[in-house]
Amino acid sequence: MARTLDTPELDEERLVHQFPGIDRKAVGAFYTPAPIVERTLALALSHLGDGPLTVVDPACGAGAFLAAAARHRPDARLCGLELDAGVAHLCQARVPGADVRVGDALRGGLEPLLAGTPEGHAELWVGNPPYNGTSAVLKDAACYARLRALVPLAMPPGTSLRDDFAFFLLVAMKRLTARPGVLAFITPASLLESFIYAPLRHALLDALHLREVVDLGPGIFTGTQVRTCITVWTSRSGADAPAPRHEHKGVGQCFTPEPPEWRLSPIAREAAALDADWRARGEPLTTLIPVSLPGVKTRFDELLVDADRERLLARLHAFCAATQDTLEDFAREYHLEPALLPKLRALKKGPALEVDASHVRPFFRYGGARHRGALPPEAKAFCYLDRRLIPRGDHRLRGPYDPHQDAVKLLFNVRELPLSAALLEEPGCVHDHRHARFAPLYVPQRIRDEGLGITRGARSRDSLGPLVPNLSPRGSAWAQGLGGPEAAFRAVMRFLNGAPVQRVWAPAFGASRVVPVPLEGPLPE
Ligand SMILES: C[S@@+](CC[C@H](N)C(=O)[O-])C[C@H]1O[C@@H](n2cnc3c(N)ncnc32)[C@H](O)[C@@H]1O
Repeated sequence: MARTLDTPELDEERLVHQFPGIDRKAVGAFYTPAPIVERTLALALSHLGDGPLTVVDPACGAGAFLAAAARHRPDARLCGLELDAGVAHLCQARVPGADVRVGDALRGGLEPLLAGTPEGHAELWVGNPPYNGTSAVLKDAACYARLRALVPLAMPPGTSLRDDFAFFLLVAMKRLTARPGVLAFITPASLLESFIYAPLRHALLDALHLREVVDLGPGIFTGTQVRTCITVWTSRSGADAPAPRHEHKGVGQCFTPEPPEWRLSPIAREAAALDADWRARGEPLTTLIPVSLPGVKTRFDELLVDADRERLLARLHAFCAATQDTLEDFAREYHLEPALLPKLRALKKGPALEVDASHVRPFFRYGGARHRGALPPEAKAFCYLDRRLIPRGDHRLRGPYDPHQDAVKLLFNVRELPLSAALLEEPGCVHDHRHARFAPLYVPQRIRDEGLGITRGARSRDSLGPLVPNLSPRGSAWAQGLGGPEAAFRAVMRFLNGAPVQRVWAPAFGASRVVPVPLEGPLPE
């Protein structure tokens, strides 16, 4: 049994299925295929000498990395930590010589394991830490504060630490600033370019030398489309390290990460030139069009959204008329899953609800790149936009200001690929789609000039001033030359969807920068 388990051809995916009780997405239980393990280890070992070595996989799963490390460096001490006891047991059986423990690497589980590293050993931190979008650490204030403190940098708006893999990188980084070693992790490729991780990249680049980046593309892990990468870092020695090497689809080149994004991949020369030229001749999109908001998140589309206006109203009437005792009947009659009952009950708490037909709004289910240019008729539905039924902040109504009311909005996304834009020419709300935002064509003057923050203390809509074009002073002057604000919005939409942005600028900067819109000369499309 042990011999079969030890072969490099082992199907790691098969091992996961031995643990049907595991919530794979929550704990990131996706085991690494053997060729990727081999590649990662080979890259990492090329930065280590032959001296004494301890290998640490802080989220070792069934031991793909530890088993391979045992083959490549039979002299090395092997340490693994794993959250799930059954999985740790399997790992231990597979790599009998390793010190495999059960514990949480982000909550003190590593310390006892690491205490055993002998003086004089370099450490190789290797593995594929969990990725889950939103780490459970975020709900544990003390733990988050401890991990956040590992990034001694400000976190500008739009940046954050959110995913488990980011915390695992920081834990390894901290260790390798105090002792010599190498860090080689497989992580989502968002680490390389996403704006949210700019401070994480900056902290890593300050603390360690980046040596290798391999963009693995999407689909490495069965059943997922996540794009992944290998990064290899070494602890800082006195000497300068050579520029890191980046590889994608077999093409390698050296590059230098640069502020403000500290991207971990090279930027095509053509894209850098375009960005500099547009910046010099124009303004970032969110300066040119200063007011935009994310779309509406009802948090309860089953109740509050419907393709049919009358059906939506009937459902809301029935919901308002229902009592806590009859809510179950209501749910059954309107085909709402029993699992939604607690949500229905929570909404029923407080003063009695009454249906107000003016809360019914057209609701456009914007689908990003699927709806480039304009939304198709089937994207139109209706929603019940009631501040009492939608969490504050998610309905996007701001004090006395209703940003949904008027027709003509530019829909666009920032720092999220694929970039796309559409013009919506009917009044109504826009559904929240990834990082999409909507910009009304006209906005109250004070909001345009002072920002949405002023709506907080505003008592009346009139106090916010008359409607003015949602354009910067430079943008307003530019719009005049085009025939007015609507023509300007249309031109921006064509520019965002056009070839220079889509083919050249976005692949380089789309995930990390706000696109600059050149305002002198014709707008490229
Ligand atoms: C993506 S899998 C990788 C496993 C193995 N390193 C491999 O590449 O095949 C991540 C593993 O980390 C474990 N895990 C998740 N959160 C953890 C934590 N906070 N501490 C330790 N292990 C964790 C999961 O149970 C899962 O087995």
